[in-house]
Amino acid sequence: MAKLLRGFRDLFESEAQKLTRVENVARTVFAIYGAKELRLPTLELKEIFIKATGQTTDIVQKEMYTFEDAGGRLVALRPEGTPGVARAYIENNFQANPLQKFFYIGNMFRAERPQAGRFREFEQIGLEYIGNASPAADAEVILMLKSIFDKLGVQNYKVKINSIGCKECRPKFREDLIKFFTAQKDNLCEKCQTRLEVNPLRVLDCKIDGPKFTQNAPRQTLCPACQKHFDEVKQYLDGKVPFEVDPCLVRGLDYYTKTVFEFQADIAGAQNALAAGGRYDDLIASMGGPKVPAVGWALGAERVAMASTFAEQKAKTIFVVSVEESANNYAFNVLQALRERGVIAEGGLFDKNLKAQMKQANRINAAYAFIIGGNEMAKNTVILKDLTSGEQKEFALEKVLAPLKEK
Ligand code: HAM
Repeated sequence: MAKLLRGFRDLFESEAQKLTRVENVARTVFAIYGAKELRLPTLELKEIFIKATGQTTDIVQKEMYTFEDAGGRLVALRPEGTPGVARAYIENNFQANPLQKFFYIGNMFRAERPQAGRFREFEQIGLEYIGNASPAADAEVILMLKSIFDKLGVQNYKVKINSIGCKECRPKFREDLIKFFTAQKDNLCEKCQTRLEVNPLRVLDCKIDGPKFTQNAPRQTLCPACQKHFDEVKQYLDGKVPFEVDPCLVRGLDYYTKTVFEFQADIAGAQNALAAGGRYDDLIASMGGPKVPAVGWALGAERVAMASTFAEQKAKTIFVVSVEESANNYAFNVLQALRERGVIAEGGLFDKNLKAQMKQANRINAAYAFIIGGNEMAKNTVILKDLTSGEQKEFALEKVLAPLKEK
């Protein structure tokens, strides 16, 4: 039997609508902030993610969907959007106009263990602000995300920020961590024991080991430039969004420098990272492009939709029913006239009897029915039935169509 792949989903009406709502709100905010849409391919050369996301990350080591195409190229379904944006920026010579704010909306693929709020194909809405090294840019992108969360009515979310420094000050922190964790290697989970040497920062981010060492793990001493940058990010954010500095927030991707951040909220039993991002000043140059600073984020649209409390008013539907064949044409014209006036109208089941048509009206939760037969057609009227109260009344067609237009 035809069967869905594990971790993949079909999204029907209400779930699809929730995602569309998140997208629409994000688009409104992107327009206010002058971000331009970038639609990127779903498939890229695998090496782009190895280079950008990082050889030692979980994503590259075990979560990518990769295959060899007919031309013998190793390709991957994108697990995240940032590497593709960086590649597009380089390939299209954007350095001629280096300041760019891009947004993207698209599906990403990660072969993770499926859980509530964790899927193998999921939607990210992302923002990449390229070309601005100022801490004001870090604050701006965080506030953009806050604006989206607030407009969607996401409640009780936490904003965590940290600075993981730069090429100058991170090596010392790495060494301190390696020393610290090596001394208690036996207490580390299997995964962390192996990644200790290659990526000790990830131990802090580990769901099992991270919390054990939050209190006493060595802290990073930032170089003066990174410290100044971080202090200014905090100043810009001050009073505009409540945030918490979390020295253990390190993120699971390799390209970050300086500021990193995460928006978290408790959503029943599901993953609590709703959105995350940070600065990546060295990524574009490391992929063969110019040395341009950048900062950005991506939100998980499904998780944000789950946490959103914003309920859209459901528009009312009118169901047009014809009770005899001779009235079908008239009823069909009424149905189309409603739609042309922008009214949500359903009907046209004219091969079915009255009872079956009314049953369908109830099934789709229509608010009203227009009941039409030969009598109504002769008088140019309709019978309007309120499907909640059951009341019904005859109206001249002109009358029901005219005020509907205004509404
Ligand atoms: P990320 O933290 O890997 O960052 O993913 C961002 C968000 O995508 C997460 O906070 C989460 O909401 C959502 N997400 C990730 N994996 C899944 C999954 N398996 N199922 C459902 N949702 C998921 C990035 O991807 C970076 N590219 C963010 C960025 C942009 N940094 C700078 N610019």
